[in-house]
Parts: sequence; C-alpha cells; structure tokens
Amino acid sequence: MFRPLSPAVAVLCAAVATASVVMAGPAAAPAVQAPPNLAPYAATPQEVVDRMLQLADVKSTDVVYDLGSGDGRLVITAAKRYGAHGVGIDIDPALIAQSRANARKEGVDGLVEFRQQDALTVDVSPASVVTLYLLSGANLKLRPTLQKQLKPGSRVVSHQFGMGDWVPTRTETVTDQRGTSRLLYLWIIGPP
Ligand SMILES: C[S@@+](CC[C@H](N)C(=O)[O-])C[C@H]1O[C@@H](n2cnc3c(N)ncnc32)[C@H](O)[C@@H]1O
Repeated sequence: MFRPLSPAVAVLCAAVATASVVMAGPAAAPAVQAPPNLAPYAATPQEVVDRMLQLADVKSTDVVYDLGSGDGRLVITAAKRYGAHGVGIDIDPALIAQSRANARKEGVDGLVEFRQQDALTVDVSPASVVTLYLLSGANLKLRPTLQKQLKPGSRVVSHQFGMGDWVPTRTETVTDQRGTSRLLYLWIIGPP
C-alpha cells in the first residue's frame, strides 16, 4: 500500500524534520516565578527583639516561627533565652547561611532551623508564636493563613506594621537605643 520513498524525497524529509527541530528549539521550560519580596532586609534591634518575645510571652514549650527571618535573631534569641524551638524562613540564601552560622555560634543549632522558602507558602500550623517584620501588604497576604492555621492561644507579634482591620490584642511603643520609636502589635488567636 505504501510505496517506498525515493532517496531524494527521503533526504528532503529528513532535512525538513531536522530544520524544524532546530528552528523550534528545545521545548520551552515552564515559567518559574520568583517569590515576592515582602520586605527589604533590615534587622530588628536586639532590645526590640527582646521586647517582642516578652510581649509574646515565649516559653520553653513554644515553637517560634519568624517569617522573613533575616539573620535569624528572633528565633535564635527565643531559643537562647527561653529554650524555645524555632523556625526561620527567608528567601535570601545568604541570610539563611548566616542564620545557621549564628545559631551554631550561639549553641542553639539543636533548637532552631532555617529554611529558604517563600513565607507565603509556609504551613504555620506547628507554630505557637509567629513573629513578623514585613510590610503591611505582606502582613495582609499572610493574615488568612495565620487565622486559619494557628491554634487558639497562639500569638502573633509584628514589628511596626499592622494587619488592616484585624484589631490587635495589644500595641506598644518601644524606643530603641538610637532613640527611634518602634510600634509593636500583638494578636492572640481566639477560639474558632
Ligand atoms: C525587615 S527584614 C526582617 C528580618 C528579621 N525578621 C528581623 O526582624 O530582624 C525582612 C526579611 O524578609 C525577607 N523576605 C522578603 N520577602 C520574603 C519572602 N517572600 N519570603 C520569605 N522571606 C522574605 C527578606 O529577605 C528580609 O530578610
């Protein structure tokens, strides 16, 4: 039923097939979206870190998540001072490496871990305390996850930025060592 191709037609077909593969190029890779930048890096002064953890009433039984953890100071301080477990999340690999080195230096690497991940994709259900120093828009994006996944009695403390109309349990102004006023917000998750 099929007649064999003449050698000239076969060569032409092979050339056309090769050319179409070359011209189309390899199959396009699916677009990978960079994680959103929820805030530029700026470290919370240590005295403000201390006050945030006091405000959250951190204890050794707590699991503290810092979403956008910078150099790791929130979770490292929670581990060192209170014996709490901690998880720091940041998109910046250099800050994650620095946090791990800081945790080792402070002798709390058995209590804390640092993950390079987009904070918007984190399952926060293991946390009993969440700390934030992110822009208001980022807090608003995180708010439904915090309200859905955190257990009643969990505490959320934010440095400087609120959560829209989610009324805080408490607010406080702290003056850092350079004389700058820092606003702190505390929310305690209520019963479902
Ligand atoms: C203002 S700094 C706060 C650092 C630290 N929490 C503190 O208070 O010292 C914000 C951090 O969020 C990180 N960040 C920005 N976008 C992020 C994202 N999508 N997911 C995780 N971390 C992010 C930045 O790399 C930066 O380290």
